[in-house]
Amino acid sequence: MQPGDHKSRGHDSLPAPAPYTGPRRKPNSRRTLLGLFVLLATTSAIYISSGIFQVSLGDSAVVVPLDAQSTLAKCRSLQLKPGPPADFYSRTQSDRFQVGTASVLIRNAKIWTGNDSGREVLRGDIFLDKGIMKAVGHVPRDILDKYAAVTTIDAEGAWLTPGIVDLHSHLGGQASPALSGSNDGNSYKGPIVPWLRALDALNTHDDGYRDSMSGGVTTSLMLPGSLNGIAGQGLVMKLRPTKERSPTSMLLEPPLGINGTDVPPGATPRFGHMKHACGENPKYYQDTRMDTVWAVRHAYDTARTIKNAQDDYCEKVLSGDWRSLGSKKFPEDLQWQPLVDILRGRTKVQTHCYEAVDLDNFVRLSNEFQFEVAAFHHAHEAYLVPEVLKRAYNNTPAIAMFSTFARYKREGYRHSEFAPRVLADEGIDVVMKSDHFAIPSRNLIGEAAIAHHYGLSENVALASVISTPAKILGLDHRIGYVKEGYDADIVLWDSHPLALGATPTQVVIDGILQFPHAHIAAKPAAHQLAPTTPKWDVETARTLEYDGLPPLEPKFRPHMIVFTNVSQFWTRDEVQGTVVDMFATQGALDGRSTGFVVAVHGQVVCSGAATSCASYLSSSEATVVDLAGGAVQPGLVNYGAELGLSEIFTEASTRDGYVADPLQGQPSFFGPGGYVAKAIDGLQFGTRDALLAYRAGVTVSITSPSHNAWLSGISTAFSLGAPHKLSRGAILRDVVAVHVSLTHGDSEPSVSTKIEAMRRLLTKEVNGEIGAWFQQVANGTLPLVVNVHSANIIATLISLKKEVEAKTGNAIKLTIAGATEAHLLAAELAQANVGVIVTPSRSFPYNWDERRTLPGPPQTADSLIGYLIKHNITVGVGPRGIGAMGHPGVIDMANSRARNLRFDIGEAMLDAGPGLLDKASAFALASVNVEKLLGLNLAGEEQDLVATAGGDLLDYEGKVIAVISPRRGLVDVF
Ligand SMILES: *[C@@H]1O[C@H](CO)[C@@H](O)[C@H](O)[C@H]1NC(C)=O
Ligand SMILES: *[C@@H]1O[C@H](CO)[C@@H](O)[C@H](O)[C@H]1NC(C)=O
Ligand SMILES: *[C@@H]1O[C@H](CO)[C@@H](O)[C@H](O)[C@H]1NC(C)=O
Repeated sequence: MQPGDHKSRGHDSLPAPAPYTGPRRKPNSRRTLLGLFVLLATTSAIYISSGIFQVSLGDSAVVVPLDAQSTLAKCRSLQLKPGPPADFYSRTQSDRFQVGTASVLIRNAKIWTGNDSGREVLRGDIFLDKGIMKAVGHVPRDILDKYAAVTTIDAEGAWLTPGIVDLHSHLGGQASPALSGSNDGNSYKGPIVPWLRALDALNTHDDGYRDSMSGGVTTSLMLPGSLNGIAGQGLVMKLRPTKERSPTSMLLEPPLGINGTDVPPGATPRFGHMKHACGENPKYYQDTRMDTVWAVRHAYDTARTIKNAQDDYCEKVLSGDWRSLGSKKFPEDLQWQPLVDILRGRTKVQTHCYEAVDLDNFVRLSNEFQFEVAAFHHAHEAYLVPEVLKRAYNNTPAIAMFSTFARYKREGYRHSEFAPRVLADEGIDVVMKSDHFAIPSRNLIGEAAIAHHYGLSENVALASVISTPAKILGLDHRIGYVKEGYDADIVLWDSHPLALGATPTQVVIDGILQFPHAHIAAKPAAHQLAPTTPKWDVETARTLEYDGLPPLEPKFRPHMIVFTNVSQFWTRDEVQGTVVDMFATQGALDGRSTGFVVAVHGQVVCSGAATSCASYLSSSEATVVDLAGGAVQPGLVNYGAELGLSEIFTEASTRDGYVADPLQGQPSFFGPGGYVAKAIDGLQFGTRDALLAYRAGVTVSITSPSHNAWLSGISTAFSLGAPHKLSRGAILRDVVAVHVSLTHGDSEPSVSTKIEAMRRLLTKEVNGEIGAWFQQVANGTLPLVVNVHSANIIATLISLKKEVEAKTGNAIKLTIAGATEAHLLAAELAQANVGVIVTPSRSFPYNWDERRTLPGPPQTADSLIGYLIKHNITVGVGPRGIGAMGHPGVIDMANSRARNLRFDIGEAMLDAGPGLLDKASAFALASVNVEKLLGLNLAGEEQDLVATAGGDLLDYEGKVIAVISPRRGLVDVF
């Protein structure tokens, strides 16, 4: 198609201007004169003199400017409130309709409509035509008869929801894969830049669009970054590709006049969105909080002055007092008008604001200048100060937040997983958001599901990513609900959307199927219902009681504990290196009853049917805990997050810090042989992320030193629940493996340099400490773990391994971590006997090195993990973090999400498709496999177990009740 072609097509582009109905006309036309006559019916004489009308009214003379008519229209329109135009509800076609799109009939769906506060579920059909929903529930035969070609989909009773709406995304602004040339997220020109527009930075080639749609996201608010107190105007877009291929054609109801065209007088305005930021991020400009607030006040004062001048001017215009206006023009200022639009309620305020101090400041600002705050974003402390939120000018802002991603900076330190529920209980609108790619928005539904796990009710959790953000955007007249006349944006799901790993089987935007050849991994039947989540009332109350920092230590340590009503008991089989179902092996249960597990001083002494463990049950010393059909299973092992090396990722004073790289110069003190750092020397115990992970079933971490270049150092294995290094069982192994990273980047030596360094270290006797460690790798004593995503580099590593082995005659233990592109070399990895630790478990093209993802359903039949397993590769899984912050160390800022490792492996099991991974192999992904790949051969007495009530670690139903640790000789009960 040709550039400019869209004009003749008249679709797929911007919405049509609202119809013009009023009596006002363009200036300088004959009609203007006519209009003036009507306006000034008492006029007795008129003559024209240099651009103004002089009107004689009896004794007095009134000067009326030539453009009086348009000025009047402008002044009148200042009073219009944004919203859908009056005739919106009678539309028969969407302004975004793409000509040629077939009508779609979806039969037999279970429809979550969004109505009745998210409680209404209909069973029936839905008919999509011309980009809108034409019929919902029952589709009358006579409607269908009118259409020749209708694409019919039988949902077979599957869940159907409106498309997911992401209230905070950087899709297209900080495009993926991250390249310096496409990072347009933040202006570095100053702290106050309301005149900037995200639209001017919208990259249409972001690989994230399709990835996000594959998670059901159909609409996103793309915002500028948060380094500026006022950062510029966000945009609302739909994520599907358009025929026009332009940023403009992706927009949903952009503010009128955004392209400089005249706005028809009387047209109903549409909402804009302005990004603000409080607190730490504007410190980029050396601004303290005091400076930022002043800068924002000063900006709003400027805007208020302009607004007042406009209002004074218009008061005169509307009362016909042209005389006192003389030749004065309507006061306008291109630069500050965006803030005036906020004061007029036309642009919504979207504010990045974390702490009580910042929320309080901003609420004060909103009252001082009388503007509403649509939403506070991130807002990690909002749940602690609901009264402050309710004091905001004219309405209570929504809170747009993360489920568990926190503590990466001081402002997020008091985050709570219970915040969504606390805020909902306060009657405050709860929105879960991605901050894509902080969390790739493909996983946004998972954020709602985790909030649900921690106490947010089902209807509110679903609304938090669908109807509530649609309302906050001011677009709930067309998105966020399944209703007749709404945009044809829907998602069909393979399970209940809040079930673990819920994945779209189809995503429809503007009536267009986005995955016509969707791959589907069937889910267990139980997943068609929302999970029955644990009770957290006590934990929630304690969180509030302790101002966000409840003690995380265990409640008590019984020396004898009897778990009753245990439905599954999984343990490690040290010999086989697998996880086994003990009850099945024992033949202990008949399949209908549940069993017992008894531990004394951290050792399991009895398991099986009641009869075999009866003596313990009757002991007066036994603490009896009913697991309500729950499970006892292996404690999980973290590899990937830097647990134990930092409390707050971005605060150097809370971190071990970065090791100096030998290729970039180490302190001369160490001599020419250099040094290798050992994580054990920098360990911190009792960090909040470590304890939260511990309380979520991750009992051990294998952590390597943090670094910025190539050589990380020596990892150590330690207990997350231990109080300090010297306590019993705190350290499993001082030395686990040698770690390096191979990534591309400005600040690093070339990959070829790093490979050559490894070749020398592995094949020649290099004197000094670095040489000695690598000799242990070369002779097969220690594993070498390489963090790498690129298939090209992985191929080089496989060659290097062969080369070294041919020279030395010893097999090297090589493990690849990261491994996003490993599927491209699955056969070669298997043949070279190289195992893989996949981080993150769901790939995302953060960087160029990891752009060739194998994303799994609905985009591909295989998931990365499933594909590697099919190739007989030993696969481990590490937690998810952000992969594009510029540090080559595995995955950045994953600490707070190590606690989700249980969900990551549960989801990996489901993503791989039915029949490939059973529960035992899913547990293995984050236990025995990781241990095997890091050469950690744990004896029986070293292996922790985790008891969960109501379910197991692999679902949203189980709640961790206790850790059984023979190594530490105790049972921790939470
Ligand atoms: C500007 O936007 C309006 C819709 O708001 C559209 O009708 C018009 O064609 C656009 N003009 C140009 C030059 O893009
Ligand atoms: C491997 O190399 C290290 C360091 O040179 C040495 O101490 C160790 O004994 C060697 N082990 C084997 C099995 O050769
Ligand atoms: C994986 O191992 C199984 C059993 O040893 C074998 O049958 C299968 O062919 C192997 N698959 C691949 C892709 O090598």
